[in-house]
Amino acid sequence: MALIPETTFQEYSNLVAELSQHNHHYYVLDNPSVPDSEYDRQMRKLQGIEELYPNIITQDSPTQRVGGVALQSFSQIKHVLPMLSLDNAFSDIELQDFERKVKDRLNHTSEIDYVCEPKLDGAAVSILYRDGILVYGATRGDGSVGEDITANVRTIKSVPLKLQGDNIPDILEVRGEIYLPKAGFEALNEAARAVGGKTFVNPRNAAAGSLRQLDSKVTAGRALEMCAYSVGQYQAKSKPTTHQGMLQALCGWGFKLNEYVETVTGVDACADYYKRLANRRNKLPYDIDGIVYKVNELALQERLGFVAKAPRWAIARKFPAQEEMTQLLGVEFQVGRTGAITPVARLEPVFVGGVTVSNATLHNRDEIERLGVRIGDVVIIRRAGDVIPQIAKVVLDKRPLNAEIIIFPERCPVCQSSVQRNDGEAVARCSGGLFCGAQIKEAIKHFASRKAMDIDGLGDKLVELMVDESIIFSVADLYELNDSRLVGLERMAQKSASNLVAAIDVSKQTTLAKFLYALGIREVGEATAQTLANNFGAIEIIAQSSVEELLEIDDIGPVVARHIVNFFRNPDNLSIIEALRNAGVKWVDIDLTNQSSQPLKGQTWVLTGGMQVMSRAEAKDALQALGAKVASSVSAKTNQVVAGPGAGSKLTKAEKLGVAVMDEAEFITFLSTQS
Ligand code: IVH
Repeated sequence: MALIPETTFQEYSNLVAELSQHNHHYYVLDNPSVPDSEYDRQMRKLQGIEELYPNIITQDSPTQRVGGVALQSFSQIKHVLPMLSLDNAFSDIELQDFERKVKDRLNHTSEIDYVCEPKLDGAAVSILYRDGILVYGATRGDGSVGEDITANVRTIKSVPLKLQGDNIPDILEVRGEIYLPKAGFEALNEAARAVGGKTFVNPRNAAAGSLRQLDSKVTAGRALEMCAYSVGQYQAKSKPTTHQGMLQALCGWGFKLNEYVETVTGVDACADYYKRLANRRNKLPYDIDGIVYKVNELALQERLGFVAKAPRWAIARKFPAQEEMTQLLGVEFQVGRTGAITPVARLEPVFVGGVTVSNATLHNRDEIERLGVRIGDVVIIRRAGDVIPQIAKVVLDKRPLNAEIIIFPERCPVCQSSVQRNDGEAVARCSGGLFCGAQIKEAIKHFASRKAMDIDGLGDKLVELMVDESIIFSVADLYELNDSRLVGLERMAQKSASNLVAAIDVSKQTTLAKFLYALGIREVGEATAQTLANNFGAIEIIAQSSVEELLEIDDIGPVVARHIVNFFRNPDNLSIIEALRNAGVKWVDIDLTNQSSQPLKGQTWVLTGGMQVMSRAEAKDALQALGAKVASSVSAKTNQVVAGPGAGSKLTKAEKLGVAVMDEAEFITFLSTQS
């Protein structure tokens, strides 16, 4: 075996330490300390040394996260201290009950401090460190014996392989939740759908399934995270006296804590915390199914002890469930603006995720086949936050004898044109184009919508009525409307008719970006429309651009480039644009020779919190007109955050990352200096 020179050994130890620090900054603190290129360079150097001197490799080297060979089976690990579960409270009253029992048992009259923690919806894990080095990771199992999932746990980058900082305990057993953030869950299911594979019902099952992989390379490919929430075995010279102190110590040793953990006094403050988190639930990038309240003083926890399998010093307050069972009553096929035919499931109404759901999307024909769903089936509906309700699974055991196979139509249910499906596309489309009433209606609704031409008072129902009554056939016809044409339509009196005609008139003055968006070119959303406007300045130039010229612009990919070129090659589209301009629709082209008109080009801004003087949409328009990109989340790449009252985690993150923050007044002053 090659002898390791002292300098190489030093360099190796430094690289392991530095790379572990970079990992910590990236995966635990969400605050990268070096660019990816530098990380990769150091990693390659480390790998080079390890190749040359294989016996130098230490267990905490970042190359050692993925194990070599797949396991045959998991061995068992007995928990020295049992892994308990929690009692649940489903109302404020039950929470008050819990607090009363705590106080009675402790003979306490003064207020008690509680640590409030989001109840992360993943899989519980126990990870043991001896002298600061990760020894094993285990599942909860039945609470007393779990499975040895060390190889899989090691692949999770927010799990330290070696503890950092001071006062490291001789033995530390960290307990926490391994979970799959929503984006990772969607990506995993999307990939499974693309190959007609099996999807996971929810992020919790996906996390648990990922941990149960015998090949740790599969686990390594899943975007799992770990948050620590307590300790089991603990041997050290000293121990914190509060749960909060223990969490802080864990944070110092390199563990990720949930960002919303908060210590409060008294049960009313606990109830208030619940309300605040319940409002945030849908916006969080990971699933939570409730709140866990824990008595903060460890001495009090000890006095309270346990009953059966749950501690008396903690309770979980649950949120409404996000999954329920119901029956599929039928399937309707809807035709969208681009002719896409979407099967929509009609369901026996069911209360899920806080609302009553009676429809769910079935996406496309492949999805129906993949789920193997039939009309009459009992299905599991999942509604996570603002996400459209989905059929997550069919409960085959409950399939009725008369369940009917779903037949995807071969003709458009609205115009009877043939339904076509391009190679490589999952979506089937009506081939009727603007001959199809459904597509005309959707195109006009989109054109009139707030972010497009913003025609006040032209709602969906009215568009449908006007198309059905043959009053309009295209968006250009809107500008030919007059009071007398409108009066007499259902619920259309003289006043509303003149208001609508006036609103249509106001909409004529627009911006190039809004007009482009309003045209409804496939894949051209608001942001792409703005990019096109900023880069080409005038519609004539966009219309004459080739795919190659479009591809030169950042953010424009081959698919959208092709759609843009096809759109402007279609003579019907060109004559609609001409008719709109003849009717008086106008905007000011962007002068590309005057670079100072886009002083924020290349910058990313984030708007958060409320705005009092401007609307969010106005602020966004103003920024985009100056060339800035407006993003929805803060990262190290954000140049500026505008934060109004009520700003929350985005503001905290900006402060943590040192991103510049201004309030609305400063923003308005800033804008006034730009024109
Ligand atoms: S404390 C004795 N804290 O909820 C205390 N549990 O039944 C036991 N969970 O599967 C757990 N987030 O994995 C605690 N902040 C949190 C939690 C949490 C999620 C899970 C836990 C277990 C279940 C409790």
